[in-house]
Amino acid sequence: MKNRIAIFASGSGSNAQKVMEHFQHHAQAEVVLVLANNPNAYVLQRADNFEIPTHTFNRQEFYQTEDIVRLLKGLQVDLIVLAGFLWLIPESLLKAFANRIVNIHPSLLPKYGGKGMYGDHVYKAVLAARETEGGITIHFVNEHFDEGEHIHQARYKIEPDDTLEIIKLKGQHLEHYHLPRVIEMLVNTPHLKKT
Ligand code: GAR
Repeated sequence: MKNRIAIFASGSGSNAQKVMEHFQHHAQAEVVLVLANNPNAYVLQRADNFEIPTHTFNRQEFYQTEDIVRLLKGLQVDLIVLAGFLWLIPESLLKAFANRIVNIHPSLLPKYGGKGMYGDHVYKAVLAARETEGGITIHFVNEHFDEGEHIHQARYKIEPDDTLEIIKLKGQHLEHYHLPRVIEMLVNTPHLKKT
């Protein structure tokens, strides 16, 4: 049986796209659901293009009910990927999927993480600090923003005249390359491996 992946996203979903592409015809895993907290998120269109079911929810459903845990359990989801999802994960979901929720973040954590640190905010802070390298982190999720155990980091060099757009492209390139591969590695680890 294949591992069953659910993706949470809030926006465009370019990372979700790479994961859906990678696992579209894959022997070990498949994306079975895409969830978004924003009904206008472009990621929902991307999921439709792959004929992957979607679910949108609001704060009340996410934080005051266990509907999403039930939905994910009902679909026998094994692994949750946060691909540009900006809300804190509630305790009930963390408990139900212990060590099975991963996040991607556009910096070399612990630098430039935490509440409010997402997307361009991160890249702007990296440039403002005159860093000579940037990077991405893929990590397990816990009850704090951007703080769980690291699984993988990758780095890019920042040249003195690099603009926001340029370092963002460098970061996105790394994210798109590494996220599907790290998920593939995870579905082959003993706690997720299926025969
Ligand atoms: C990605 O850069 C991801 O690392 C970031 O949001 C972007 C989503 O882009 N996540 C965070 O900042 C989480 N703190 P996408 O919608 O094009 O995949």
